[in-house]
Amino acid sequence: MCGIAGVVSSQPVSDRLFRGIKNLEYRGYDSCGVAYLNSSGIVVRKNIGYVDSVNVTERLCEIEGHVGIAHTRWATHGRVTKANSHPHMSCNGDFAVVHNGIISNYRGLRDELRMQGHEFASDTDSEVLAHLVEEYYRVTEDVEKAFTEALGRVEGSYAFALISTHEPGKIFCARCKSPLVMGIGNKSNYLGSDFITFLSYTRKVIFLDDGEYAVICGDDYYTKKIESGELVDKPITEISWDPETSKKNGYPHYMLKEIHEQPNAMVSAMGLDNQGVVELARMILDADQCFLVGVGTTYYVSLIGQYLFSIHADHFIPAVSSDEFTNLAKPTNNSLAIFVSQSGETYDTLNALRFIKEAGGSSAAIVNVMGSSLARMADHTIMQGSGPEICVVSTKAATSQMIILLQAALELAHLTGKLSRGEKGEIERAMSEIPGRINSVINDNSEFIRGLANKYSHIKNWLWLGRGLYYPLALESALKMKEVTYLHAEGMSGGFLKHGTLSLIDEDMYTVVLVPPKEEEDLYQLTMSSVEEIKARGGFVIGIGFDHDEDLFDEIILLPKVSRFLAPFLPLVPAQLFAYFVALSLDREIDKPKSLAKSVTVP
Ligand code: M6R
Repeated sequence: MCGIAGVVSSQPVSDRLFRGIKNLEYRGYDSCGVAYLNSSGIVVRKNIGYVDSVNVTERLCEIEGHVGIAHTRWATHGRVTKANSHPHMSCNGDFAVVHNGIISNYRGLRDELRMQGHEFASDTDSEVLAHLVEEYYRVTEDVEKAFTEALGRVEGSYAFALISTHEPGKIFCARCKSPLVMGIGNKSNYLGSDFITFLSYTRKVIFLDDGEYAVICGDDYYTKKIESGELVDKPITEISWDPETSKKNGYPHYMLKEIHEQPNAMVSAMGLDNQGVVELARMILDADQCFLVGVGTTYYVSLIGQYLFSIHADHFIPAVSSDEFTNLAKPTNNSLAIFVSQSGETYDTLNALRFIKEAGGSSAAIVNVMGSSLARMADHTIMQGSGPEICVVSTKAATSQMIILLQAALELAHLTGKLSRGEKGEIERAMSEIPGRINSVINDNSEFIRGLANKYSHIKNWLWLGRGLYYPLALESALKMKEVTYLHAEGMSGGFLKHGTLSLIDEDMYTVVLVPPKEEEDLYQLTMSSVEEIKARGGFVIGIGFDHDEDLFDEIILLPKVSRFLAPFLPLVPAQLFAYFVALSLDREIDKPKSLAKSVTVP
């Protein structure tokens, strides 16, 4: 989805700009580039590949300059080529731009600009802005005016940053439906797609809103509305995240580090001010109709939430994938949508939020990134406090979201009288055991899971099965597996298996079954009948469960015994570890799997 960085300073900026796009690599990593202003004009260096490898060929850090913009790309328009990498220049070389988003009317604009004599160097939608600004500058002779006139012509979504030889000490930037954040430093100011871009240099942050632009110098800045030109006084937010927590701390990959951070992230989620959850439960009670909304992992977390609300509070709240929300949901002014998102910047989820707002309904959000669009736009926001999650593959953010949804379900059950204060307190006390149990799962099982992963990483087709609450866990486990290993993995409910997929079962299709504890008698029996069905057809079955049933499973990952309410919080962790170790044995790009990006900010 692309990452944008910018620095203006009284000191050379190349190191900070380079570090900025390194920090943003999770947003896209097929190519990258920088543009600097120096005495000879605008210097652009870019190429395909990861930031480190482009640095080797293009020596990104060795360019002199006090003003620069940079970009990491996740291709949408135009193949992964050097020409399509950002920054893009105007014909006369006076303007360079970087862009995140999609310009939906770029074809028309490109045709028009070609008629005016402009020549395009790339197939991207983004390049039109550089030419448009050049065109408007011819008339206005004012970069800021030319920039805003050009913005008035583009449709779609964007975060833009622009530098110009006509205003050598400034960066011009603007936002419409793609994130953009300014960092306020000492004689240096920064720009980024998120604050991680520059968190090592400043924790003072300004979040630009849709329809706003900014002009940034080394020791000054101002923000205005694009349409009216009216000045906007933006608050400065102090970010509490420690830049150290966004480092690997000796782990080979962020994914492994973040899997290990889950117990602490869950403790943080449990320690949040209870008022946020109480307010959420009240909103659910007041609404005529509620939805749980997320996409990818957060859709599966929403599905898990759907089960938690049904099981604990007898309240049915359907989960809807945010990419389909506008096609499916019929919200009214008394509907509530509860959005779940790690980044708070996912296009589909924000689009669903706008949809419910247009219907006059209310919104709540469970979100990890402070100051993100979702966190600021929802009527009620619970900041989950899991700390930075850098790996593209979500782990600790998801399990912490599950904790918050369980708390909300318990609170709702208490409000409706389904659970007495004492009963609720009892489950909550038991809940406090989860982080410790997860720690044991990680410590006691990692080596065994690594062994299994090495033994079976040659298997190309994987089925993940579960029933009840273990069904969305199976879906999420399969997603982990496919995104990080690039193997085919499908998640399914045990009951669904015999309605078609059973025909795929043979010795080449391996199944992992998430088995509930035996106390869940019906669910346990039904799950085991799925295992029997697979075994009867020569399938190989790995169990992840709490009881040893040696004769049925070919392999079993045993989990510690916990109460049946807490058991569903455990199986995801061995599933994450299994996916990680299979990916490791296949030598995959674990933290940045091919074709993926952490924050999907395009439709
Ligand atoms: O930032 P969000 O939680 O809104 O992101 C939603 C999905 O893009 C995300 O969960 C994606 O599926 C992850 N790669 C899963 O690991």
